[in-house]
Amino acid sequence: MAAEKKDTLTVTDNRTGKAYEIPIKDGAIPAPDLRKIKVSEDDFGLMSYDPAFLNTASCRSAVTFIDGDRGILRYRGYPIQELAERSSFLEVAYLLLEGELPDKVALESWVEQITLRTFIHENIKKFIDGFHHDAHPMGILVGTVGALSTFYPDAKKIDDESSRHLQMVRLIAKMPTLAAFAYRHAMGLPYAYPDNDLAYAENFLNMMWKTTELKYKPDPALSHALDVLFILHADHEQNCSTSTMRVVGSARSDPFSATAAATAALYGPLHGGANEMVLRMLSEIGSVDNIPGYIERVKKGDFRLMGFGHRVYKNYDPRAKIIKQVAEEVFSVTGRNPMLDIALELERIALEDDYFVSHKLYPNVDFYSGIIYQAMGFPVALFPVLFAIGRMPGWLAQWEEGLLDPEQKISRPRQVYAGSPERHLNGA
Ligand code: CMC
Repeated sequence: MAAEKKDTLTVTDNRTGKAYEIPIKDGAIPAPDLRKIKVSEDDFGLMSYDPAFLNTASCRSAVTFIDGDRGILRYRGYPIQELAERSSFLEVAYLLLEGELPDKVALESWVEQITLRTFIHENIKKFIDGFHHDAHPMGILVGTVGALSTFYPDAKKIDDESSRHLQMVRLIAKMPTLAAFAYRHAMGLPYAYPDNDLAYAENFLNMMWKTTELKYKPDPALSHALDVLFILHADHEQNCSTSTMRVVGSARSDPFSATAAATAALYGPLHGGANEMVLRMLSEIGSVDNIPGYIERVKKGDFRLMGFGHRVYKNYDPRAKIIKQVAEEVFSVTGRNPMLDIALELERIALEDDYFVSHKLYPNVDFYSGIIYQAMGFPVALFPVLFAIGRMPGWLAQWEEGLLDPEQKISRPRQVYAGSPERHLNGA
């Protein structure tokens, strides 16, 4: 007779012979339920061991859906391809934060709120001035965005909805200003102030490149491409920096401090720093002829192919596909970046190679984004900063969702202790 179907898991503990029934909800079991599996009354109970959270859901989230095997990415249900084609970055930011796309009136108000908060306190410039001329702009961004919390003590009022909203607007509005100022500092250029007549990406380009002209007018193809790149980076569910944002937020820190921590996580070469590493890698390869030798060294384990592979995508990253199209748009204005030929050939060879096929390694979002950024004139060190500007709304949407989730508490993983047993200073 077939067993009765139930949404539960029955586990037998072979140490004791006891069976336990654990509920299954949404394809997951509640890990705390494992604690009832014990060998004795004073036993702590079973834990799950999952370094790097390979198979642990840390939250319920309604923000972003990814199906890594099928290469699907949706924000609040909308496919990334449709948003990249038809929406602006600020519309997408609103969607991520509010759950719905704005109507015309809501969008106008949202854009105005952001536009009116792009300026930063003049004292922030003094911090930036204190950094070395060769300071990495991500280091400057981590420092200055964290410092903003001291300028907005009201940001501590995380239980107050209107205060949360204001801090979110401030963060989305000021990230491009901090980023552009970090660049201008490195170049020894005077800071270019925000221009409220310009749209979000346009204004960023203005703060980056404006010199003596009275009014800076970016090429519409370039500002559009940048806006699309921001959309593609806007959220990616529980990635390393977003999880950092949630973890810091769970301690009820203010959102500026949490953003500094998330930015620090993004800085790493395995995360948002990968776009920078891709460009350095392509320069090192230097020519198409050197690709086979380079691939052999990757396969030997000398180093990784940067911009390839993903924890979640085991198929082509949908963002990388869109970026390839954006590249054409950009190159029609800037001329073709010679790095593209190396990248295309690298991708072609890698996708035919057994190692990459069997490991399901495909280009990720960072593989082509750097080539576009470089063609647009951004220095390599600024690439992760551009990622951070795009990711800001996603961090905030996830931070707020975590704060409002009644199932959440302060994040505090368990450990399996693997150190010395008790010992004493007298050697006993
Ligand atoms: N080149 C060569 N081999 C790789 C690569 C790569 N880029 N990525 C993974 N592998 C191999 C790895 O050596 C391992 O092989 P084996 O099983 O034979 O030991 C296998 O694939 C699984 O790798 P893993 O390190 O267990 O995979 P992970 O899910 O922990 O790592 C990753 C994901 C993105 C950190 C990794 O693929 C990687 O280091 N990629 C290069 C850096 C990169 O492009 N990062 C950007 C990620 S997308 C944007 C973002 O989220 O920030």
